[in-house]
Amino acid sequence: MAPPSFIIVAIDGGAASGKSSSARLLADRFDLLHVDTGSFYRHLTAELLRRGVPATDLPALRTALGALQLTTRVEGRSARMLVDGQPAGDEIRSEEVNRHVSHYAAVPEVRQTLLGYQRGQTEVARASGFRGLVMEGRDIGSVIFPQADCRFFLHADPVERAKRRAAEGRQDSIAERDRLDTSRKTSPLTCPPGAIDIDSTHLTLPEVVEKMSTVIAARQGIA
Ligand code: DC
Repeated sequence: MAPPSFIIVAIDGGAASGKSSSARLLADRFDLLHVDTGSFYRHLTAELLRRGVPATDLPALRTALGALQLTTRVEGRSARMLVDGQPAGDEIRSEEVNRHVSHYAAVPEVRQTLLGYQRGQTEVARASGFRGLVMEGRDIGSVIFPQADCRFFLHADPVERAKRRAAEGRQDSIAERDRLDTSRKTSPLTCPPGAIDIDSTHLTLPEVVEKMSTVIAARQGIA
């Protein structure tokens, strides 16, 4: 039998909807590169804040973005974005970045800067010998890879999501980020037509991953 071909799995969803946990487990199960695009937006946000470039100052933002070198380091099964050779620090999960990231992510120039970089992760995955990639974010199935082999949209009740963040010991502006991410003009968070919508409110993580795995295995012809 022919080996399964290179596969692209897209997972979109709101803050704390379970994207990262499920993407990590799928990456292990199917030998995929895990690409967390939220961490890319967070890293750019932290860098722009560090440089004192506000999301509202478009000329300064354009200049700063134009000068940034984005490269990738593969660590285990994860793609880490390096900005001018530097990996992201813990500050990308800070309250300050949580508060600002959706404002930067709403700027078309910021999204444009990451568009080609994100698509280029397929080459990184191939060059590193993975069988495909699983990319999570807000616009993966709608904009980055609308032709992905499998597209999932995860959602969960906001109260449940707040509990998940609290259990991780993290503070997050979940409702406000979702409001900004769904209402922006460029690439808003939405369940694209044809994507598989999974409500994880009453599902455990293994149950979510099982549902996704069934679809991926069927797609790979190994079900
Ligand atoms: O997945 P996350 O919560 O770490 O993402 C942080 C923010 O980045 C999110 O609130 C909006 C933005 N984002 C985006 O606009 N598009 C993506 N593909 C991924 C993240």
